[in-house]
Amino acid sequence: MSALVIYHSESGNTRKLAQAVATGLGVAAVSLESVDMTRVPDCDLICVGTPVQYGGPSRAVRKFIARMPAMPGKRAAAFCTMHASGDAKTIHQLQLLFEAKGMVFLGGISARGWSRLIGRIGPRIFNRGRPNQEELAGAEAWGRSLLSQSQPLRPADVPVPEVATTP
Ligand SMILES: Cc1cc2nc3c(=O)[nH]c(=O)nc-3n(C[C@H](O)[C@H](O)[C@H](O)COP(=O)(O)O)c2cc1C
Repeated sequence: MSALVIYHSESGNTRKLAQAVATGLGVAAVSLESVDMTRVPDCDLICVGTPVQYGGPSRAVRKFIARMPAMPGKRAAAFCTMHASGDAKTIHQLQLLFEAKGMVFLGGISARGWSRLIGRIGPRIFNRGRPNQEELAGAEAWGRSLLSQSQPLRPADVPVPEVATTP
């Protein structure tokens, strides 16, 4: 089973989650900037991570999936980090993008990520220390669980169409 964990991260949160998921899968996480597109078609599982940006996947991640070839029957999964909301919509949008490539979507996870925002009283840090150890351990366990769901189809698993016989 060959898996690729690819992430986009601007301030490190999604990279941390990606590294935990990749550890569970027994591979190294690869940033979007350094992914070798020629490896993509041969993978049994593509697992993509994104920060939630404006309630959805980042533009860079959407562009990456658009560049992927059709991969019928191959598995896909997704994860994201966010300040406060938008994870369900983000994972759902990624599901639709993967399914448009003919892939089987296995599910997604999310975690809070720290962020520095300017408010009325000036810059403030939110979600300090997130994703935390518990979230990273959960992401690693999730990565492990993807392994068993991503075995390539064997010929015996592929249904044989019934052939009409003439009497
Ligand atoms: C341009 C931009 C848009 C964002 N939009 C959202 C959003 O809609 N919802 C949310 O909860 N967080 C939002 N965030 C916060 C990030 O999702 C959050 O900080 C995330 O953990 C960053 O991940 P990264 O460190 O991997 O880049 C946004 C951040 C940026 C920079």
